[in-house]
Amino acid sequence: MTSELGRLIARRIALTGPISVADFMAEALGHPRLGYYRRAMPLGAAGDFTTAPEISQMFGELVGAWLAERWQAMGCPAPVRLVELGPGRGTLMADALRATRAVPGFHAAADLHLVEISEPLQDAQKAALGEFEPAWHPSVDDVPDGPALMVANEFLDALPVRQFEKTPRGWTERMVGLAADGETLRFALAPGPSPFASLLPPSVRNADLPPGTLAEASGPVAQLATTIAERLARQGGWALIVDYGRDAAAPGASLQAVRGHRGVDVLDRPGETDLTAHVDFAAVAQAAAAAGAVVFGPAGQGDFLRRLGIEQRALALKARASEPARHAIDAALARLIAPDQMGTLFRVLAVGDDRSAPPAGFSNTPSDTT
Ligand SMILES: C[S@@+](CC[C@H](N)C(=O)[O-])C[C@H]1O[C@@H](n2cnc3c(N)ncnc32)[C@H](O)[C@@H]1O
Repeated sequence: MTSELGRLIARRIALTGPISVADFMAEALGHPRLGYYRRAMPLGAAGDFTTAPEISQMFGELVGAWLAERWQAMGCPAPVRLVELGPGRGTLMADALRATRAVPGFHAAADLHLVEISEPLQDAQKAALGEFEPAWHPSVDDVPDGPALMVANEFLDALPVRQFEKTPRGWTERMVGLAADGETLRFALAPGPSPFASLLPPSVRNADLPPGTLAEASGPVAQLATTIAERLARQGGWALIVDYGRDAAAPGASLQAVRGHRGVDVLDRPGETDLTAHVDFAAVAQAAAAAGAVVFGPAGQGDFLRRLGIEQRALALKARASEPARHAIDAALARLIAPDQMGTLFRVLAVGDDRSAPPAGFSNTPSDTT
């Protein structure tokens, strides 16, 4: 049995033909009534997945310290747009703002903007952040002009990707069509080489790869990186992007589906299933640099948090904690920074203007994105 949205997508395909994987992902996550991020509360133990700020307050606190340091490096502009893309339950920003209360002038200067499409999550953000009087926007393009500090944790992985398969005739797009029963969603290959294969990085597109090799590219991710970088380069500011992904362009298909903390088939019950793809950080860095911003990283989340002092923060929290709470802090620390947990798979990238000193958390020189 598919979902109500699955039936709607099948009807659309029956009437108008197969759709790209990117269109399927956009519908499955963002359909105005039935999309995954429009309907449910996806985060937390009862939801489908958990995220770094939900694991420990230390994550948001250190991100807050990073943002406040960037504000000072920019010369303490007031106002500064403090922007979070995809804030989930508002936990990261609430921890960040609590941790920066003592930074002179920062809260008075910060003007909070949340980019969010989910109504249930907007309600949660209202509860967590109401005292800071945030403004909500459907897109980062709607955030008012001015110097900005931005953070996006596990946001880019929800943006649609196209998938391609190498065939003897070139890169062909993987589509979502229908099985013989006319109802069940199925992957199918477009009949000929795809013009959208130009989105693939040249090192993948032109590589000598065997037929059947899959590859992914996300136009919306590159577009978002360009939009943010152009703005920051022109109007001043910094963005911190954290997500799971790869540092260098590589073939492979990473699109995955999770429901109730378990992996499921990508086409199974759209609208009730979270879909994510690994972020191509090389593409993000290149797009940002081409738009005139400086780029630091990607660094592993473990290295980034360690450089910001997460181990010292854990010790300070443990000093006033009960025995069970001390174990919980150790477990959360390991989850965030251990190489076999989130420490290496999750990557951190900073994008900013070229007028402020290098940011904390990275090796000191801007990344070479050529
Ligand atoms: C995986 S959750 C991450 C939440 C939060 N950053 C955290 O770390 O807990 C993705 C977030 O992005 C939002 N989102 C997903 N796609 C979006 C889009 N196209 N526009 C705006 N928000 C979106 C979701 O509603 C959710 O708040």
